[in-house]
Amino acid sequence: MQFKSVLFASLFAFAYASTIQDVLNDLVTLKSTLVTLDNAINSFPDSGGSLADALAINDDAGAVRDAIDATTPDAVNVDLPVSVDDANSVLAAIQDLQTNIDSALTGIVAKKPAFDALPVGGVSALVAQDLNDLNTSNSALEDALIAATPPEVLDAAEQTRSEIDAAFATAIAAYS
Ligand SMILES: *[C@@H]1O[C@H](CO)[C@@H](O)[C@H](O)[C@H]1NC(C)=O
Repeated sequence: MQFKSVLFASLFAFAYASTIQDVLNDLVTLKSTLVTLDNAINSFPDSGGSLADALAINDDAGAVRDAIDATTPDAVNVDLPVSVDDANSVLAAIQDLQTNIDSALTGIVAKKPAFDALPVGGVSALVAQDLNDLNTSNSALEDALIAATPPEVLDAAEQTRSEIDAAFATAIAAYS
């Protein structure tokens, strides 16, 4: 019995171990969902937008959240220690995503009057919920990535994290 559960536990651990390449692949998927979201936000018209297009933004935000949530377990279970080179590769991928995150968050703030002007109410409340959900998921991913970051890369990783968190805080404040 004891032996069986030890065996099961190690099979389980084996099945769920992930590599930096898994994390980098996840970030490629995340990037494509972010680009879709960013484009949908920035192409939403400043006046006369449709509810359908607003709801599409909500769906795109859900896809981004799913992609973040799919990355977090791979970051949590990544083989340790992570080398400095690998940590720098992940940080570079995150900093690349940061451009899309900033654009999407700046865009969503700029579109708030357009959402508020839609004949159907409640869209801005939906956006506020999406922002909070995305922030929560993003924060969990950041925690996992920081936990796997070697000391040599930690300051740079923390710096990027605080910039992304601040961008979320600004957008969330605009919808509060
Ligand atoms: C983002 O999520 C984290 C973790 O839940 C939370 O601590 C932080 O306050 C959130 N940020 C904002 C601006 O709500």
